[in-house]
Amino acid sequence: MKMPGVPVWVACSLLGCVAGLRAETGPAGWLRYALITDGSALAQDQGLPAAAVALDQSVITVTAEQELIRGVRGMLRRTVREDTALPDEDAFVLGTVDEMRRTFPDWAAPALAGGGYSLGTSKRNGHSYILIAGADDRGTLYGIFRLLDKLARLENVSSLNDTESPSAPIRWVNQWDNLDGSIERGYAGRSIFFADGTVRGDLTRAGEYARLLSSVGINGCTVNNVNADLRVLTSDFLNQAARIADVFRPWGVRLSLSVDLSSPKVVGGLDTFDPLDPRVAAWWQTKVDEIYRRIPDFGGFVVKADSEGRPGPSQYGRTPAEAANVLARALKPHGGVILYRGFVYNHHLDWRDLKADRARAGYDNFAYLDGKFEDNVIVQVKYGPIDFQVREPVSPLFAALQHTNQAIELQITQEYTGQQRHLVFLVPMWKETLDFDLHAHQADTPVKDIVTGKAFHRTSGGFVGVANVGLDTNWLAHPLAMANLYGFGRLAWNPNLTSKSIVDDWTRLTFNNVPKVVDTIGDMQLSSWRIYEDYTGPLGLGTLTDIIHVHYGPGIESAERNGWGQWIRADQKGVGMDRSVATGTGYVGQYPPAVASLYESLSSTPDNLLLFMHHVPYTYRLHSGKTVIQYIYDTHYEGAEKAAGLVEQWKSLRGAIDDERFTKVLGLLHYQAGHAIVWRDAVCNWFFRMSGIPDAEGRVGHYPDRIEAETMQLTGYAPVDVTPWETASDGKAVTCTNRQNCEASVKLERPPGWYNVAVQYFDQNNGAASFKAFLNQQQIGAWASNADLPSDKPNGHTSTRYVIPQVAVRPGDTLRIEGAPNAGEPAPLDYVELQPATAKDAH
Ligand code: GCU
Repeated sequence: MKMPGVPVWVACSLLGCVAGLRAETGPAGWLRYALITDGSALAQDQGLPAAAVALDQSVITVTAEQELIRGVRGMLRRTVREDTALPDEDAFVLGTVDEMRRTFPDWAAPALAGGGYSLGTSKRNGHSYILIAGADDRGTLYGIFRLLDKLARLENVSSLNDTESPSAPIRWVNQWDNLDGSIERGYAGRSIFFADGTVRGDLTRAGEYARLLSSVGINGCTVNNVNADLRVLTSDFLNQAARIADVFRPWGVRLSLSVDLSSPKVVGGLDTFDPLDPRVAAWWQTKVDEIYRRIPDFGGFVVKADSEGRPGPSQYGRTPAEAANVLARALKPHGGVILYRGFVYNHHLDWRDLKADRARAGYDNFAYLDGKFEDNVIVQVKYGPIDFQVREPVSPLFAALQHTNQAIELQITQEYTGQQRHLVFLVPMWKETLDFDLHAHQADTPVKDIVTGKAFHRTSGGFVGVANVGLDTNWLAHPLAMANLYGFGRLAWNPNLTSKSIVDDWTRLTFNNVPKVVDTIGDMQLSSWRIYEDYTGPLGLGTLTDIIHVHYGPGIESAERNGWGQWIRADQKGVGMDRSVATGTGYVGQYPPAVASLYESLSSTPDNLLLFMHHVPYTYRLHSGKTVIQYIYDTHYEGAEKAAGLVEQWKSLRGAIDDERFTKVLGLLHYQAGHAIVWRDAVCNWFFRMSGIPDAEGRVGHYPDRIEAETMQLTGYAPVDVTPWETASDGKAVTCTNRQNCEASVKLERPPGWYNVAVQYFDQNNGAASFKAFLNQQQIGAWASNADLPSDKPNGHTSTRYVIPQVAVRPGDTLRIEGAPNAGEPAPLDYVELQPATAKDAH
């Protein structure tokens, strides 16, 4: 992903400023196995064995042994010797619990669930053995990864005593990859699996991905989009998919596929796909048998049906359970499962109907089916009742399905949370969801206990993360976004871990163990979700983005007056969806009584979900005493300010991490700080116009440092209205059409001094316009508008800021911006802003 608006000075001032740190681009993720240079860690690692022995030769155990050798070589520059039998010297010993018990009869074997491991030591004949014992070979591999990660984090591994089992059997990622190589809601390049309608010839990246997944305990990967291509069940494609399974297998990652329920008809040539038609059931059985002949460890299916235009059982008057069970019965003899998505809703709701409510859909479509699913069906439920918003309440469906396996669906790819151009560490949000107590049966039933099967004594369940890594070198485009993939795996393994410990581990493994680095990156990550929420979606309204198309920049109005049901119901008097039982849609009544009564009453609803649950006047006072409208203004200003603060925090790491990633992240954070201002202004101005209530602090609508492009002296440039209006300052921009070059100039009447000159322009994706900035005759900046932002129009997705710091300005100076259009991009300009510079702006 190319990034806009990285000021030239940032790049220049950093060149050559870091010595001794290896440049890195991130392909190894958190598995860098960087050389250990810390003296005391090296001393403690001196005594590690020089030999390793694997007690079995399964493909996964062999992988585990090779990973051990690779890790030790990377971190300690030593090559551990592979032995075929227990050597007469210290050694690492890898194997399953049963094998270990046979080799070390005195060893007290721990109780482990599937995939669990135990790290321990044993003395024999005067030798010390480090035992890595798995419940199965996957467990052994996970144990090796854990051992290596301890080494990398400089822990002493000479006296190990660690026993861990995963929280739940389902720990999967979904990739939304299309066979043509594009990725739905993917922000990091093309698919690592597919290109041009087929599986890629070179699956090296797919294998490397499986290694990353495995290292955090993820054991399944669905490789194709939930909006499934019907071709995936053709015999030709299955042969190709088997090659992906081959590169996953050594890492214990099972391949699975998203399938379309109309396949028996479209692929199989039947005249129906009615799940209760015996021919349909027979077709699925034959197809599943065929899959297992090619892929014996196939994981199973993911199904999206009756949702967003996908065909489903409703077409035949059948229920999701009836459909799921047919596939489940076909998979069962082979040990496969079906994850049937609870994301079923009507996207043609009548927005005028005050009782209509998309949030109700999950519960309404599934709760009555509780207990009707086969035991290898897992209902996959998005964490909130809408769709991956920056904040949502927990889906009430979790508490309703007490005789049905469930998995929580989380989104690693940042569809509604900044699309990996903004830093948003999602683990704290996931933790809030997982820790939320639904009080089913008046008992303690936090979501984590429900999805892991503990609360309702289910045999299966777990976690699904929509990951959408791509071919970008560092997998997720933003180097810091990888913490979300890592954190997902760690939480799926153990949802009781804290966000802090997860980010701490990730930073040490991804960057280094220097306390300043660990603390600074930890602080940035841990504060980032709230910062993003503050400048995007207040009080439970959800992300106030363009919900119809790209889900990226601001687009407040887009939520209203359509069938999608992400309404915020804002009018002149108030805002919010009334979902109460008493006067609203009744959604609140879908929760168990303790939670329902919390949300039913205005006074007990937490502020951060107020407008999700209730419609209130703008002057309604929150628990903090602030009015709703003033809260909206204040948080958007605070959020934008804190986004700028992230830049400063990051700058403090110059020299403490490698130059390459430092520069890349700095560019992204500069961009984010600029885009946060776009968000701030769009949301604040929209609510100001709607409510007519001014900002008590006098900020909204008053920009004394700003000069609108349309008020400048224009040569060639012409004013245009921007849609939606709130995404440009004063609703207008200027564009340059039918010319090679246009100019906008203005005479500055500012007190003499140093100023940061910000140029707000629109970086569309249908060309690469270029800009130059001049003060009088002197060129003070030049940049290309060639970022990869998701729109070909001037709007909130493309609005971008280029800052020229520390410019000496005197009264009467002329500032001139030259824009040169390219292809379809007319070098659109919004405004310039001059703000007095401070000393820190120079760095
Ligand atoms: C969101 C997303 C879609 C996706 C859907 C799903 O609506 O925008 O691209 O297909 O979720 O999860 O099925």
